[in-house]
Amino acid sequence: MKVLFVCLGNICRSPMAETVFRKQVNEAGLEQRIEIASAGTSNWHIGEKADSRMRKHAQQRGYSITGLGQTVTKEDFAYYDLVVAMDNSNVHNLKRICPTAQAHKIVKMTDYAREHSQTEVPDPYYGGAAGFELVIDLLEDACEGLLEKVKSEIS
Ligand code: 4NP
Repeated sequence: MKVLFVCLGNICRSPMAETVFRKQVNEAGLEQRIEIASAGTSNWHIGEKADSRMRKHAQQRGYSITGLGQTVTKEDFAYYDLVVAMDNSNVHNLKRICPTAQAHKIVKMTDYAREHSQTEVPDPYYGGAAGFELVIDLLEDACEGLLEKVKSEIS
């Protein structure tokens, strides 16, 4: 099972989602069965490290974000089994480039949250510390729900 997390810049939310999900997948002993990556719908931050604020908040919670910014491509929809968008705008942009036959692979991160009722993972880029903390809270919750779904599909 191959999972691609997608946001706008690929320097805040989706690299954080990739990191949180990878930790949960490793803890479940499923790292050989689940491939995880992230990308952005924009090409603004290709080759850049994750945002320093996102990395700082991640580190405070015991996560280390690695990887460099990259852009989602049309070919990704054939390669990945699940393309997990952070907000409605990401879903909209993904649908514009996704071949019709693979549109069912696009899902939204918050659909898997069980303790939060938000319907999007809000873009933290122009906000303060609380926004970055909320991103991690939402992702820890939603990644747990996502892992349950993925487990049921690979078992
Ligand atoms: P992300 O956050 O989509 O969570 O990576 C953003 C990163 C950069 C920008 C916007 C959002 N930007 O405008 O450059």
